[in-house]
Amino acid sequence: MFYPLIRKVLFQFDPERAHELTFSQLRRISGTPLEFLIRQSLPNKPVSCMGLSFKNPLGLAAGLDKDGECIDALGAMGFGFIEVGTVTPRPQSGNEKPRLFRIIEAEGIINRMGFNNRGVDNLVENVKKSRFGGILGINIGKNKDTPVEQGKEDYLTCMEKVYPYAGYIAVNISSPNTPGLRSLQYGEALDDLLTAIKNRQAELQQQYQKYVPIAVKIAPDLSEQELVQVADSLLRHRIDGVIATNTTLDRSLVQGLNYCQQSGGLSGRPLQLRSTEVIRRLSQELSGRLPIIGVGGIDSLTAAREKIAAGATLVQIYSGFIFHGPTLIKRIVNNI
Ligand SMILES: Cc1cc2nc3c(=O)[nH]c(=O)nc-3n(C[C@H](O)[C@H](O)[C@H](O)COP(=O)(O)O)c2cc1C
Repeated sequence: MFYPLIRKVLFQFDPERAHELTFSQLRRISGTPLEFLIRQSLPNKPVSCMGLSFKNPLGLAAGLDKDGECIDALGAMGFGFIEVGTVTPRPQSGNEKPRLFRIIEAEGIINRMGFNNRGVDNLVENVKKSRFGGILGINIGKNKDTPVEQGKEDYLTCMEKVYPYAGYIAVNISSPNTPGLRSLQYGEALDDLLTAIKNRQAELQQQYQKYVPIAVKIAPDLSEQELVQVADSLLRHRIDGVIATNTTLDRSLVQGLNYCQQSGGLSGRPLQLRSTEVIRRLSQELSGRLPIIGVGGIDSLTAAREKIAAGATLVQIYSGFIFHGPTLIKRIVNNI
């Protein structure tokens, strides 16, 4: 594969510019004869999870295709599932640039994008146009200017709009870049949100005669006690799955490296062990009653296997995909 060369070119650009360039090229070739350049035919490795059948256990993590603009092109690369979003009810521009940094030596990324997205209505239009045959997850959040006490309404608004088009819905309460968002992971705020989401899911199931599972995405920075409490809450509310983990605020593994002091969430290899630890602890707590989607620093087949050994049923990649390209999908899916 020629990704090392493409990466060399892309890494000459500012990370966000490199992302835009890649996406515009992917959109150009998607659905044309040139699609063979990115298409990878991979063996089926079926997995059942949350009542859904996945053609293989490897997915694209949320945040790369926030607006669902490249679903078919990314699907052609062989992902078993793609999670688009995070999307919010209204469009928003996100934080000021620069807001995305590569920590090349550590194969890490720091981002403080702040849910830049074109809003849920635009996402739904893009999803309607896509022909992706795998499972599509839609990750939802709240607008920055919605007070956190009213955040619940934003999640419900997004849920209603995406429900008919989603394979599963991911509830993101763990981004570090929307002030107050992570507070929804605790105590009464979490119970209140999950109650509302489960009630709305039941109503929408009636309306559409279709059950769309809900997965909650959590941070890697929860203490042991907080993790146990979150697990208990997810079980009590009969949530369908948990996605572990989002990016970390911890910088201990990137000390002294370029950009390590930038604020935002750190992902990639420096997150790998912590996220696996969270999965292992969650898995003990959940003892198979709720599936785990493992994400954080997967950069190789071994790292994917470690997540599964720790208790994940499915895995996702983001940063590893930036550093290793579509070859990583092939290596994992072929051998998992
Ligand atoms: C630039 C960037 C943007 C992200 N945006 C989102 C997002 O909008 N919603 C979300 O749930 N996670 C988001 N994430 C987190 C990833 O989905 C994933 O949980 C995290 O990066 C750990 O996986 P990785 O080490 O494979 O990157 C983002 C990550 C990065 C690097």
